[in-house]
Amino acid sequence: MKKLTFLITSGPTREYIDPVRFISNDSSGKMGRALALSALKRGHKVIFISGPSGVYPSSKAEIIKVVSAADMFKAVKKNLFKADVVIGAAAVSDFKPVFFHRHKIKKTGDNQTGGVLIKLKKNPDIIAYCAKNKRSRIVAGFALETKDLIKNARGKMKDKNLDLVVANAKESISCDLASVFIINKNGGMLKLENAGKKFIAGKIIDEIIGIYKNNQIGKKCS
Ligand code: C5P
Repeated sequence: MKKLTFLITSGPTREYIDPVRFISNDSSGKMGRALALSALKRGHKVIFISGPSGVYPSSKAEIIKVVSAADMFKAVKKNLFKADVVIGAAAVSDFKPVFFHRHKIKKTGDNQTGGVLIKLKKNPDIIAYCAKNKRSRIVAGFALETKDLIKNARGKMKDKNLDLVVANAKESISCDLASVFIINKNGGMLKLENAGKKFIAGKIIDEIIGIYKNNQIGKKCS
């Protein structure tokens, strides 16, 4: 089989409020790294774009370190044309502060309330952008939900035009084990319960390669 290039986003992003404070989340980057290692093990190329997690795959991958969602978006757009497959495993912060305070915000807060109001604005949806510009690429994402897991994950796959979505509950975040549903756009679903992230990653990569091969056959026959 042709050697594919996987572009994988991983880890959290940080949205700085002032020089020392930021909005982020608990993403460890373990799932992203496991995906990268599985793709490398199968002989594929990996471009690994990661927020600050400290968890990276081997040096066989091209590793691009970023901080904010805006940085990640820029790096993804720059590398998208090289990719056959994009996997959005990063827990991208959906919002960022409207204003970045150049100096550390004082604990005295503002004059009226003594508190601080932080207005947020939306970050770009990176995986949705990749899917919108996918051409023949396979684009896969994750959905972490606290309720209606499968329904919401399917909704996300449709709204973002993904080929595959991995639904997981919040208990999976930063753990070595996870329970996930791997759902493809043809309705196929694989449930993996309390499995290691390495095992889950292997299943995801194999499912993606299966979709890629089917697409190639479809192209030849049409
Ligand atoms: O919409 P939600 O954040 O739940 O979607 C999760 C999926 O979308 C993940 O694959 C994540 O990497 C991706 N995502 C993204 N850019 C965002 C938000 C989410 O690529 N701004």
